[in-house]
Amino acid sequence: MVRDFKLAASAGDRDSLIEEIASRVRVKAEHGRSFAQLTSLRVGGAIDWVLSPSSEEQAANVVFELDNAGIPWRPLGSGSNVLADDADHHYVVVSLKELKGEAIFESNCVSVSAGFSLPRLCVEAARNGLAGIEGLGGIPGTVGGALWMNAGAYGQEIGIVTEIVRVAREGRVVEVPGSEVTWNYRHTSFRDGELLLGATLRLQPGDPEAIKQRMIEAKTKRLETQPHSARSAGCFFKNPPGNAKGTGRIIDEMGMKGTRKGGAVISPVHANFIVTEGEDAKAVDALALAEEIRDRVRREQGIELEYEVEIWRAEPAGTEAITVQKDLEGSQKP
Ligand code: EPU
Repeated sequence: MVRDFKLAASAGDRDSLIEEIASRVRVKAEHGRSFAQLTSLRVGGAIDWVLSPSSEEQAANVVFELDNAGIPWRPLGSGSNVLADDADHHYVVVSLKELKGEAIFESNCVSVSAGFSLPRLCVEAARNGLAGIEGLGGIPGTVGGALWMNAGAYGQEIGIVTEIVRVAREGRVVEVPGSEVTWNYRHTSFRDGELLLGATLRLQPGDPEAIKQRMIEAKTKRLETQPHSARSAGCFFKNPPGNAKGTGRIIDEMGMKGTRKGGAVISPVHANFIVTEGEDAKAVDALALAEEIRDRVRREQGIELEYEVEIWRAEPAGTEAITVQKDLEGSQKP
């Protein structure tokens, strides 16, 4: 857990501390990046520091050191499920993008690190004649993000096939059996401040050609029904529980496709996607549009939509801890 950071004297002191930790643990440290560069929505403010560990041990070590120094941090994979606000974010982003290595296949299992691309994993699993994740092949995220939120599509979910999750605890890589994790619809029992490092999945053997074919069908369906070359964070809201209609259909039937606020637009292809356009698009546009959707759906349908994307709010420097991976959830998304 992150400790109170109130006593850190100045941003300069904090910068030196972060640089010192990065050099001791030997992780790449970058200053001056922004969420507009690191998320698929291409909006969001400046980030103080981005630290990029390249091994699971290094990642466990760096967050342990940050916690001990009372420096708040948040993990980020490919940024495909995050909307960060436009303000300056005064915490460390621990990027998992360089924590990818190779997928290691053994019998019916595959072991991968958190930064490994989910689509690539699905392709490699199909090549190795392993089924169970071919429906997830079009989800443009990392394995870590997929585990965190139990990513799913076309009747499959990553949690169903997860045998072991590797988690950072007290500076070490700890194995947690998948059976000890609660895997719900786009939500898991992983706790705030817990860094997921990788996983071993147990898949089912099958004919590589048939698996590949199912993967192509899922991708084709996705391409037909969802925007693909647009800047989005996937489905913006969860589907409401117990409602026969999904959120996309509900918003569509209210005639909201194409509604625009500044550089944010409700996708004309799938109404549960908010896409951003142009150089001047801002997170505040996307947030305002999302709230307009929620208001109308609440008023006209009596349904309280829950965010599926994670909304990352900037916190003032030097205030309380923010190792929040699940920023929303009830408020919670990648
Ligand atoms: N529909 C409309 N208008 C729209 C969008 C959808 O009428 O603008 C209709 C479709 O025609 C279809 C029904 O609504 O009859 C369901 O649509 P779709 O098959 O696209 O599924 P969904 O419930 O909207 C969910 C997941 C997607 C996942 C697909 C396929 C959520 C919130 N969404 O979408 O996941 O790719 O099923 O399995 O659970 C994501 O996680 O980011 C995501 C996009």
